[in-house]
Amino acid sequence: MTQQRYTITTALPYANGPLHLGHVAGVYIPADIYVRYLRAKNEDVIFIGGTDEHGVPITIKAKNEGVTPQQVVDKYHNIIGDSLKQLGITLDVFSKTTSKTHFETASELFRRVADEKSDNWALTIEETLQYYDEANKQFLADRYITGTCPNCGNEKAYGDQCEKCGTTLNATDLINPKSTLSGNVPVLKLTRHWFLPLNQYEDWLKTWILEDHQDWKTNVYGQCKGWLEAGLHPRAVTRDLDWGIPVPVEGGEGKVLYVWFDAPIGYISFTKELLENDKTRKWEDYWKEEGKSKLIHFIGKDNIVFHCIIFPTMLKAFNDDYILPTNVPANEFLNLEGEKFSTSGNWAVWLHEFLLDFPDKTDVLRYALCSNMPETKDADFTWKDFQAKNNNELAANLGNFVNRAFVLTHKFFNGAVPAYSVVEEIDANTLALAKEFHGKVSESLDKFRFREALSELMKLSNLGNKYLADTEPWKIKDNPERVGTILRVALEIAAKISVLGSPFLPETSKKMATWLGVASTKWSEAEKDDLLTDGFVIATPELLFAKIEDDVIAAQLEKLKASKATAQQAKSTVMPQKENVSFEEFSKMDIRIGTIIEAEKVPKTAKLLKLKIDTGIDQRTVVSGIAEYYSPEDIIGKQVSILVNLAPRNIKGIESQGMILMAENSKGELAFVSPVKEIDNGGGVR
Ligand code: MF3
Ligand code: ZN
Repeated sequence: MTQQRYTITTALPYANGPLHLGHVAGVYIPADIYVRYLRAKNEDVIFIGGTDEHGVPITIKAKNEGVTPQQVVDKYHNIIGDSLKQLGITLDVFSKTTSKTHFETASELFRRVADEKSDNWALTIEETLQYYDEANKQFLADRYITGTCPNCGNEKAYGDQCEKCGTTLNATDLINPKSTLSGNVPVLKLTRHWFLPLNQYEDWLKTWILEDHQDWKTNVYGQCKGWLEAGLHPRAVTRDLDWGIPVPVEGGEGKVLYVWFDAPIGYISFTKELLENDKTRKWEDYWKEEGKSKLIHFIGKDNIVFHCIIFPTMLKAFNDDYILPTNVPANEFLNLEGEKFSTSGNWAVWLHEFLLDFPDKTDVLRYALCSNMPETKDADFTWKDFQAKNNNELAANLGNFVNRAFVLTHKFFNGAVPAYSVVEEIDANTLALAKEFHGKVSESLDKFRFREALSELMKLSNLGNKYLADTEPWKIKDNPERVGTILRVALEIAAKISVLGSPFLPETSKKMATWLGVASTKWSEAEKDDLLTDGFVIATPELLFAKIEDDVIAAQLEKLKASKATAQQAKSTVMPQKENVSFEEFSKMDIRIGTIIEAEKVPKTAKLLKLKIDTGIDQRTVVSGIAEYYSPEDIIGKQVSILVNLAPRNIKGIESQGMILMAENSKGELAFVSPVKEIDNGGGVR
């Protein structure tokens, strides 16, 4: 049989935090199972992964931690890579989008489609109005703008998305937009960007997906259909940012490639890195039509549009014979104990921490996440369920079966694999049933039905248990040949499990194969009834799956609750409410809207500004302790709230006639309390 070539990719996680079980269940477990299956079938596979190191989330993390973006990504790239290796995810390459090869590849492909003189010119250029922060003198990425969601009223929606109701937004949709950098109201300013004209590819995409790919999973197909029916618009592929791959063409100064333009190109760059010094294979074999490779992207549901619509359009636009994805078996999301995983809320089981706490339970985790994979709808990880899967399924079913077969073989035959003797009906029937599992597991895996495939494997183990219970070889007296035949059938089932289980439970399968002396664990072997050799002395079995006790699970639940509580505390250092005041008392405060008309630093002080305010009543001088947060030239013309009837005070020799109201965050940083639309000077604040 000729080999089929496969290019298998895993979504590149942002290197701004470690992986949690959601990433693992949605992307890495299914991808690794699939790849191990293909390799066992002797197909020609490359398995690509790495970290996504550009984009705004990284810059925000760096800013919050007071380090450079490069420091952030280097740290998490290593944590992520190490934890995947320990989990047994057999990526052929694990690279990063800050690598040199990637920089060159992405730049070259951008130039290819941005050059107006080239045959492959595909991008358009548009001038658009973007929000700009005048205090920080920079354009604001969507994530740097917050405001009220026009859909649900959430006041903390981002410029690209409302995380409360899930609506995708444009920054200009937000009500009361605010820059998260300065807290100021951003202004709209013209800027020039390159666009991928998705609308021009709409007809082609409709045919390619809606007609030619009806075989895709319904959750994936349905989302694509939704996007295509809503109509596609040109999408900006450059950004005004300083972290990313610089736009490599004229007019690109100060701009970078949009992270979603460069990241998927990473799959290509990393293939180049993998095969750079390979004498027999070249990267084009896995990316160009002539190589006839099947491209399969493993991703989570929030990445569907990028992998099914945008990246294929890019590949098409490159006009250089690139292959398109054969399938994109995206998963839905995994929740944790009934709630969404949240990095900021610290509601997560982090992979690297799991591996520290349970270093010898990697197969158990793979099993728990595969049997509960969010394949067609969101799923929920609970620690109780993890314990139950270990104790009631792996230990009580699979572990028990293997142990019984081994112990009996040692008891009756000193561990030597007995030969088949007279095969009775029950033996033949059992062998015939067992034979079917090769086809069943394969068929489920071919359709990306991982839960189903794994449950078939466990049915094979059930079959073994039932067979031993029905034949009761331990009760048979004076008939060693009968006992031998029964144990041989049982051991052959165990051998099949070691082959068919290898994609799911690699450690366990390897142990079993070694103990049993299974010579070849090629996938096709599982069709046979004689994987074992007469007389081979099998190992003394160890326990395959140790029980997990209640206190271990309770400790994990405690840890989860504690980390969530810490995160909440850190978020809310809110001061307690003060004593009540009457309305009359409040009404004594005369607070007005005024405009700053002059501002200067008070000499020899670090914090004070001397302001002249037009209060509508008069123009007066106020001294305010805000110099750390605002520079004089940036605030002229700003409207602020001022307590006008505060008794005048002398501050550093200046008479201050009132007080500017300031809002303070948990770090003690100050921001003006300004009206969100212009109010005539002198307008009251009530
Ligand atoms: N970093 C993205 C995310 O976590 C995924 C990027 S996948 C790639 O959602 F295609 F861009 F590489
Ligand atoms: Zn909303």
